[in-house]
Amino acid sequence: MNVLTSESKSHAPSAGEMAVYCRQIVKEFGAGDTKTLALRGVNLDVLSGQMTLLVGQSGCGKTTLISIIAGLLNATSGSLEVLGENIIAMTGSQLVRFRQKNIGFVFQQYNLLPTLTAVENAAVPLIIAGQSRREAFEAAKRILASVGLANRMHLLPNQLSGGQQQRVAIARALVHEPRLLVCDEPTAALDAHSGQTVMELLRRVALQADRAVIVVTHDNRVFNFGDRIIHMDDGVVTQVEIPDRVSQEANQMSHKPAASHH
Ligand SMILES: Nc1ncnc2c1ncn2[C@@H]1O[C@H](COP(=O)(O)OP(=O)(O)O)[C@@H](O)[C@H]1O
Ligand SMILES: [Mg+2]
Repeated sequence: MNVLTSESKSHAPSAGEMAVYCRQIVKEFGAGDTKTLALRGVNLDVLSGQMTLLVGQSGCGKTTLISIIAGLLNATSGSLEVLGENIIAMTGSQLVRFRQKNIGFVFQQYNLLPTLTAVENAAVPLIIAGQSRREAFEAAKRILASVGLANRMHLLPNQLSGGQQQRVAIARALVHEPRLLVCDEPTAALDAHSGQTVMELLRRVALQADRAVIVVTHDNRVFNFGDRIIHMDDGVVTQVEIPDRVSQEANQMSHKPAASHH
């Protein structure tokens, strides 16, 4: 039981504040001959109000890293703060509560429950967290409407297109209004048009000042949606790229004198 963790106050980050702070995160799987060093000391900052893309070859450690950030997997060593909390020090039940309140997770293959309708799927996290069914369904309907599925609420996953299923999965990940949304290759199974729709939706979420969105992708069709692109290779971060669009926006907002005309 960690006293510091249970007593620390969580405060909502505002735009530009640190949502995730990783230092020297190491993750080993297995032991002896089968030991794999999946992460070899990852340093990473994620800001709220931004869309952070995490890119790199298959096997470089992206899923492992975001699973640790989302509290689904323990790091072997290193420090990690998520929304100002040292989640490594939390007990199992503290971590479950923290996740239920603060984190949404979207998977490549949607992972919807096949026998539940769209609205039932989207309501699941609230029902598990103990809300009444009525409140959970009302929240699920609101969020499905906001992702453009108002007229698909009562269909089963196999009656929806891939892009629509992924939007249901995003609604489910957002239904409890988490401050951190983590998405693992959310467009990989989608055609170009559905992929764009999903990324536009995630970008809308990320631009809310108190929200941070991390998207793992190796889909270069969607790189232009990122505010920061973090490149990984073989278990480490190798480069942090800020697209021209973002640095231009930052320049326009600063008080530099206008460029002279010729
Ligand atoms: N549960 C596991 N047990 C053993 N090795 C694993 C496990 N999960 C991932 N790995 C290994 O860790 C490395 C990173 O995997 P992963 O994070 O899934 O990469 P990515 O998401 O970038 O494709 C790979 O070498 C993979 O085989
Ligand atoms: Mg992966």
